[in-house]
Amino acid sequence: MVLRTNQKINDLGHLEIGGCDAVELARKHGTPLYVVDEMLIRQQCRAYVRELASRYPRTGVVFAGKALLTTSICRIVEQEGLHLDVSSAGELLTAQVAKFPGNHIVVHGNNKSPEEMEMALQAGAGRYVVDWVGEISLLNDRCVALGKTCDVMLRITPGVHAETHHFIETGHLDSKFGIPMAFFLDAIRAAQDSPPLRLRGVHCHIGSQIFNLDSYARTVEMIAAALAEAREKTGFVAEELNIGGGLGIRYRDQDRAPSIADLAEIVTASVKAEFEKHHLPLPILLVEPGRSIVGEAGVTLYTVGVVKEIPGVRKYVAVDGGMSDNPRPALYGAKYEVFLANKAAQEPTETVTIAGKHCETDSLVADAALPPVEPGDILAFQSTGAYQYSMASNYNRLPKPAVVLACEGQDDLIVRRQTLEEVIAQDCIPARLDGKPQCR
Ligand code: LLP
Repeated sequence: MVLRTNQKINDLGHLEIGGCDAVELARKHGTPLYVVDEMLIRQQCRAYVRELASRYPRTGVVFAGKALLTTSICRIVEQEGLHLDVSSAGELLTAQVAKFPGNHIVVHGNNKSPEEMEMALQAGAGRYVVDWVGEISLLNDRCVALGKTCDVMLRITPGVHAETHHFIETGHLDSKFGIPMAFFLDAIRAAQDSPPLRLRGVHCHIGSQIFNLDSYARTVEMIAAALAEAREKTGFVAEELNIGGGLGIRYRDQDRAPSIADLAEIVTASVKAEFEKHHLPLPILLVEPGRSIVGEAGVTLYTVGVVKEIPGVRKYVAVDGGMSDNPRPALYGAKYEVFLANKAAQEPTETVTIAGKHCETDSLVADAALPPVEPGDILAFQSTGAYQYSMASNYNRLPKPAVVLACEGQDDLIVRRQTLEEVIAQDCIPARLDGKPQCR
């Protein structure tokens, strides 16, 4: 088992995350529990800022909030000088409640509602990313109605396949996201014709959990060529290029994820080369990572319940959560590294299947190698900081787990566990259901 940065096995043989004993955290806060290592998030933010700035004149890092957004996380990324990508009213509200500066917010969405559009304009969002040509006139009208102006980026789909799970590939032509290249000039002209809009540049996001970084170089090549044509035909010169997120992380011990420096190198080198080739001025370069900022900082802790051995078939180890707190195995066939936090120093002796508690065949890990497992053990899942809490549901009416921030031996709740009362709080019973049935 490969420990992540800031993790160790302590004298009790327990996993320690950010200086906190995982078994103690499980006892204190209950399970399932998402634990997030604050220092590792900060280290990743700093690595992005440093690796880009050391290679390229003007750069910026935007945290993709969809990976893990809570008011405390907003504070941390803001303190590290990052900007924030939001893609719904709920994410924008989270940023506002955390007092995230409006002009550092990038607003996304392939189908923004009129309310979300208005909220973004009222918040004075720093960048508004247009996802489709038709959105420009809607945005124009709303700006006029509210007496606002808006700094706009055009999200384009470069037609590049990113070699990742097809559910999380977004840069190819058949994608619901972005403006296909064939409509790029139309979008530019529409933005140029709208007085309240200031067209700043282009945005692109080709996918997520990407290991082969060549896709970024191909994307930059396509974008630079499109911008050269755009300058000739429309006079538009992009001041900014946001190349999106997507850097893959280590889920299993054998995963060889590229580093932030690898990504910075390939992106900055290709932007310099391609923009020079077309005699285009170097744009301000932005990246928009989510998973690679928070993913490896997260560990999920569960308590082992039923251990069921079916002779000659397999041994099931059931935990007190499942697809409601981690839908990724079911959605993407995602694989995880797991171990017993209370027996972290012991060698694995058996291979078991980790099952959730849902009314569903929700195997979380098909073949986990563990020391002898007993009810009451604390099972830890590595690399669960991204797209876990943010994708959690109340399936089977399970409350969503708490999120705890671990930092140099201190543990603080940043999201309180949902109560059962909160889970059912939105239900209502119309008066006519209180008597005899009226519908036959
Ligand atoms: N920017 C935009 C516009 C995005 O849509 C995304 C992710 C990112 C940035 C950040 O990408 P990252 O650095 O996190 O790869 N639920 C899936 C991942 C969906 C990614 C959605 N967009 C999963 O659990 O794997």
